[in-house]
Amino acid sequence: MCGIVAVTGYRKALSLLLDGLEKLEYRGYDSAGIAIVNSENKELVCNKSEGKLINLINKVGQKEILGTVGIGHTRWATHGKPEVKNAHPHLDSSGKVAVVQNGIIENFLELRNKLEEEGIIFKSDTDTEVIPHLINKELNNLKKLNLEDSGSTLLIAVRNVLSDLEGAYALAVLWSDAPDSLVIARRQAPLIIGLGEGEFICASDTPAIVDFTQTILPMEDEEIALLTPLGIELYDSNNERQYRNPISLKCSEQVVDKKNFRHYMHKEIYEQPELTQKWIKNYLIKNSESGLIKVNYSFDTNFLENIERIQILACGTSRHASMVGSYLLEQFAGIPTDVFYASEFRYSPPPILPNTLTIGVTQSGETADTLAALSMEISRREDLKDELCKPNLIAITNRPDSSIGRQISNVIDISAGIEIGVAATKTFFGQLLSFYGLAITFAQIKRSKTDDEINQLISNLENLPPLLKELVDQHNEISEKLAHDFSDIKDVIFLGRGINYPIALEGALKLKEISYIHAAGYPAGEMKHGPIALLEKKVPVISIATPGKVFEKVISNAQEAKARDSYLIGIAPKCDGTEIFDYLMPLPLSDEWLSPLLAVIPLQLLSYHIAAHRGLDVDQPRNLAKSVTVE
Ligand code: M6R
Repeated sequence: MCGIVAVTGYRKALSLLLDGLEKLEYRGYDSAGIAIVNSENKELVCNKSEGKLINLINKVGQKEILGTVGIGHTRWATHGKPEVKNAHPHLDSSGKVAVVQNGIIENFLELRNKLEEEGIIFKSDTDTEVIPHLINKELNNLKKLNLEDSGSTLLIAVRNVLSDLEGAYALAVLWSDAPDSLVIARRQAPLIIGLGEGEFICASDTPAIVDFTQTILPMEDEEIALLTPLGIELYDSNNERQYRNPISLKCSEQVVDKKNFRHYMHKEIYEQPELTQKWIKNYLIKNSESGLIKVNYSFDTNFLENIERIQILACGTSRHASMVGSYLLEQFAGIPTDVFYASEFRYSPPPILPNTLTIGVTQSGETADTLAALSMEISRREDLKDELCKPNLIAITNRPDSSIGRQISNVIDISAGIEIGVAATKTFFGQLLSFYGLAITFAQIKRSKTDDEINQLISNLENLPPLLKELVDQHNEISEKLAHDFSDIKDVIFLGRGINYPIALEGALKLKEISYIHAAGYPAGEMKHGPIALLEKKVPVISIATPGKVFEKVISNAQEAKARDSYLIGIAPKCDGTEIFDYLMPLPLSDEWLSPLLAVIPLQLLSYHIAAHRGLDVDQPRNLAKSVTVE
């Protein structure tokens, strides 16, 4: 949420900042801004625009802003409307200090009131603006000490201010009296330093860095750094100087290319068959001696043998994948499993039980709610000092290099490649595959299924890629046509049961996110307990009906909707029972365990085509951001 870029070096800052911001626009696009120290007169030049980055580019792209040190920001609004006055960077009253920030300063009101009492006039409604004013105050105090080095002075001033801030932040600060220096700091929000030769770039995420350098130094929580073209001084919260080796970026995974697709989301849906193929190759490994197929993890899985229950923490689409995971872990692997909204878990966790595995699921690895819930769980378990209750952890993420990858060492990398579309598709699919892997592993450990049953699931997964490829092509065409029928639709109901109930939720979320049509997903059996009151001719019902345990029940529930005049769309194979649907989006006949992996494809494509048909900004839907780094 919000993207930060900051540079110091010898090249013109303007183009580096704009390039970096372009790569971070998925983190927010309510406004954008930059501040650069003019290398001739040493004054700060600040430019901001409302809305997408393109507005800022149109404003400053042709300008000759001389200067090699600068900061930039692309905003997802929290405090204050998406207007120019609330766009970052924010400046102090002297116009010499500029700050960009990601996160929320929770005690900003108290700080603002105090500053206002001292006569400071605020220009924005943001929480961030208190920071430059406080830094300026500190700088004025420090001036009395006549410190020689202006960069170090700025570092001390920022550090002093940080101790007064409550909440989470990643920030970058410029001071025109220290024209080569940048000070950056982080607490519970990501910040990565890219190391060039005689230049540094600092950003919220690696895509902004990858074209600049492959060598990075991710900052740890509570660290602060002074960057000049000559080097980095990095300190921890105790003011101890830190020396760490930088690491290398896996650049192939950061490449951002739309190929011939109009939207990234469309391309990402099409990448799912290949992703599955890659997952099979990386994760389903046959032991050459026993001939047994095991799931291949990058960590030691011995600890899983003692696990008696699982709790999964996630948000949004990741939570929906976790719900399918929970179904597989309970029904296939026989382990009691609960899924929690990470944002709720943190403040109302269940009592601690022994031998529990906690799984954090987040494609970005940066979701503040999920990270905070995991931290809370880790520390309350560590505090107990009971071996049976110790935290057993796994992270499922597309970004092993992210904050969750640093928080948890047992990482299942979904390796879906960078996902640009704000609405998650292929990363959802990758998360599902990871849960199939875990269910197989636990079923093998717990002997909850026979070898034949486990091998059947493995072989069904291995046969999936060509089936998926066909499905994507077929439903791309079907959905494109069907999208026309949704021109006047305002509400859609999605129904599913059992393993496909979470897919109904995901179908509804995708539609809401990118087409702004109200949609709700229900377990089909719940309709009659209330939501059925919503049904009428203009409310289509999309029902997932795949042969298995609850097929007949789902068909009966669909009948109930039909009796209320709803237009019924079935995501179902052509078979006895599915003739009830007014329109069939056909699925191949498959084993029920596999059905979520098939059913989600038509739903993703339908949402995509409805939004594209309406001419909406599919990849950057309003009010959303790809990484939600505020709680
Ligand atoms: O990065 P995460 O998977 O932790 O993100 C969680 C949610 O914010 C995310 O899934 C959100 O719901 C997306 N917009 C889904 O398309």
